[in-house]
Amino acid sequence: MSSGISPSQVGAYVAVGLTIFLSSTFFKWISKGTLGDEPRKKKIYGLHHAILNINVPPKTMWMNMGYWERDSDLPKACSRLLKEVLKAADLIDEDGYRTGRWPIKLVDLGFGCGDQTIEIAKNYPTLASSYIGLTIDPKQYNFARQRLSSLQLPQDPSLTTDTPSNHPDQEEQAKLDKYSNHQTDLLQQRLENHAKEVNGAEKSINLFCADAAQPAKWTNELKEAITPNLAKQLRENSQKPSLSILRKQETWILGLDTLYHFSPSRQPIFNHVYQKLQASIMAFDLIFGDGTTLVERTCMRIIALIMGCPMGNFVTAIEYREQLLMAGYEEDKIEINDISECVFKGLADYLKKRDEELQVYLGRGLGAYKVFGWVLRWWSRSGIVRGCIIVAKI
Ligand SMILES: C[S@@+](CC[C@H](N)C(=O)[O-])C[C@H]1O[C@@H](n2cnc3c(N)ncnc32)[C@H](O)[C@@H]1O
Repeated sequence: MSSGISPSQVGAYVAVGLTIFLSSTFFKWISKGTLGDEPRKKKIYGLHHAILNINVPPKTMWMNMGYWERDSDLPKACSRLLKEVLKAADLIDEDGYRTGRWPIKLVDLGFGCGDQTIEIAKNYPTLASSYIGLTIDPKQYNFARQRLSSLQLPQDPSLTTDTPSNHPDQEEQAKLDKYSNHQTDLLQQRLENHAKEVNGAEKSINLFCADAAQPAKWTNELKEAITPNLAKQLRENSQKPSLSILRKQETWILGLDTLYHFSPSRQPIFNHVYQKLQASIMAFDLIFGDGTTLVERTCMRIIALIMGCPMGNFVTAIEYREQLLMAGYEEDKIEINDISECVFKGLADYLKKRDEELQVYLGRGLGAYKVFGWVLRWWSRSGIVRGCIIVAKI
């Protein structure tokens, strides 16, 4: 008879010991929590339930780089960038009113989720008699369409029939004061007359899901919507339009922080816009700064790929101008205005602040957008990429 402990008994003792150890660890984990020494109940209740209170979808879905001169809030900075582009094109005054005599036809390449569509309809009531928006993204297209219909914006008959009196905020009230009811009525009457006279159709908002970079692939419906009425008139009536009609028919193309995405390049749309539409262009776009090194350009071109842009789309101001000249625009009608100072740092600061806020409330930060914030700081400090407003008039 042996008095020693058998191997199976050793195994049993180890198993019991392990069970006791794991149970006590589990008990500690339950009572104190896994991270730090705080009691578990504090981990259940913190600020993370913010996620249950966040409005989805949010009120705005802007996604451009913004103009951060005064604002520290993304939607305001984004709508300000739109305003700066419209001002640079001499289309509106400081109060947002059309500076020229006649409203324009506006073709918006890359309208995002429709914030700029809404902004133009609501805040620039005298700007456009007709708005045609394109986006390549079906989700954004459907989202924007739903938003427009739920806001009951005048998709038909007119975006310009939205009077300033619909806007309750202070800025709009100031506009209202400036334009008394009587003036507003006159203005509307004039716009409606203009739409009938020049467009031969009611004013409208039309959204399309299409690749704005490849006009050759546009559907007939889209082509027809964009084709200047002048061309239609010539085709239908084979009569010469009067000089006054010619002057009134101004078509503008807007590219708000989108053209650097255009594949294979911006050239096909520049050619089409000048040669087929006889339209002017206004855009916020990204270009290479002066004096960048080969290494910097190579780094930037790799980043361009990650941003979903063709590598060759980052060009210098001189090369950008050459593309517009090649399409047919005249040298003295092209303006490239560097506004980087009011763009990159402001957005980088906003992303940093947002990341910190999200960490506090949701326990996670901005992820890839945080990395983009670092890229923006690099652009801001080095000058390798510049944010510019580009205007090319017909
Ligand atoms: C940086 S976002 C700007 C969105 C919007 N303009 C804004 O200010 O909020 C770029 C937009 O360009 C659109 N886009 C990119 N390539 C496009 C293309 N080839 N045709 C039409 N839209 C395009 C994207 O879907 C995206 O909404």
